[in-house]
Amino acid sequence: MSYNLAIVGSTGIVGKELINLLEDSNIKIKNLTLFASEKSVGKKIIFRKKSHLIQSLNLQAFKDVDFVFFAANSEISKKYIPKLKNSKMYIIDLSSAFRENKDIPLIIPEINSQVLNTNKSNIIASPNCTTTIMLMAIHNLHKTFKIKRIVAATYQAASGGGKKLMDKLLFDTKNQLRNPKSQDNLYGFNLFLHESKLNELKYSEEEMKMLLEAQKILDDRNIKITTTCVRVPVLRAHSIALNVEFEKTFSIELIYKILKKSKNVKILEDFKNNKFITPQIASFQKDVFVSRIRQDISNPKAIDMWVCADQVLKGASLNAFQIFETIIKEHLI
Ligand SMILES: NC(=O)c1ccc[n+]([C@@H]2O[C@H](COP(=O)([O-])OP(=O)(O)OC[C@H]3O[C@@H](n4cnc5c(N)ncnc54)[C@H](OP(=O)(O)O)[C@@H]3O)[C@@H](O)[C@H]2O)c1
Repeated sequence: MSYNLAIVGSTGIVGKELINLLEDSNIKIKNLTLFASEKSVGKKIIFRKKSHLIQSLNLQAFKDVDFVFFAANSEISKKYIPKLKNSKMYIIDLSSAFRENKDIPLIIPEINSQVLNTNKSNIIASPNCTTTIMLMAIHNLHKTFKIKRIVAATYQAASGGGKKLMDKLLFDTKNQLRNPKSQDNLYGFNLFLHESKLNELKYSEEEMKMLLEAQKILDDRNIKITTTCVRVPVLRAHSIALNVEFEKTFSIELIYKILKKSKNVKILEDFKNNKFITPQIASFQKDVFVSRIRQDISNPKAIDMWVCADQVLKGASLNAFQIFETIIKEHLI
């Protein structure tokens, strides 16, 4: 089989990485249609040795497309996806537009790909990046010990906010070096609470995504989750300090055993030399790294761990690519 694919947002951080994953795969692709904003229209991207012209978004161009990835923003997804809903194509949306819609599956293939067999929606949502990384680390622990409550603090990279935020980190860092006493360069050697909108409970949208999306993916609305999401001056790869409390009793040995068996999860820790995973080591890697796993000394039912992963990959492009791969491998198309 070979497929006609389209990518909306093909020039963005996520779109480019998706193109790399497709390029490196051995999946046969008949046509690849690339969309971006007006400012990129007419530019060319080389894919599998052929030049591809970037187009502006138009519904006619979706004719004959089998799969489209929406990797622009939630406004674009909300505007165009409903218009494609009744088509035969699969729509894999990386934005937050439909993640909370109960009729649309929210998929991390390692965790809940079975939902694709029961929910026949042609729109599939790929989750928030921080949520994906957190759940990759703990979903198998939940199966065995049942998670009661999660307390998380995130250390999120600039790339999670797209090209613009990466540019701001570089720009502000240079300016701060020139003027170390300045308080104007928010992102220069500084960190700040996640920039998404706050609700009436003073939680940011990002923090609420971690709660609502995790409950939906684990299919358990009883799990309690509270998080504080922070941007740190890291270009790529998110980190999370996680405290996880379980319903059942556990042993740390069993926790390790389960994590060692978890697909696409790696334990990386060197207690002897006090060396653990960093976002720099996790960058450009496909796995989710778990580190400094320890018993919570304040609660016999809880553990602490440090998790890092490249959210452009597993938190976005790679996860969407795996959804595509699952659909074609399981002949759902
Ligand atoms: N970055 C992450 O780690 C991450 C993780 C999970 C999910 N996501 C989601 O993935 C999506 C893309 O994020 P990103 O970080 O790649 O953002 P980005 O770097 O800002 O890229 C945005 C892309 O959307 C395109 N675009 C903007 N307006 C458009 C329009 N009117 N029509 C067509 N294309 C348009 C841009 O084209 P131009 O280059 O021409 O402006 C660019 O290709 C977002 O929905 C984001 O929430 C991102």
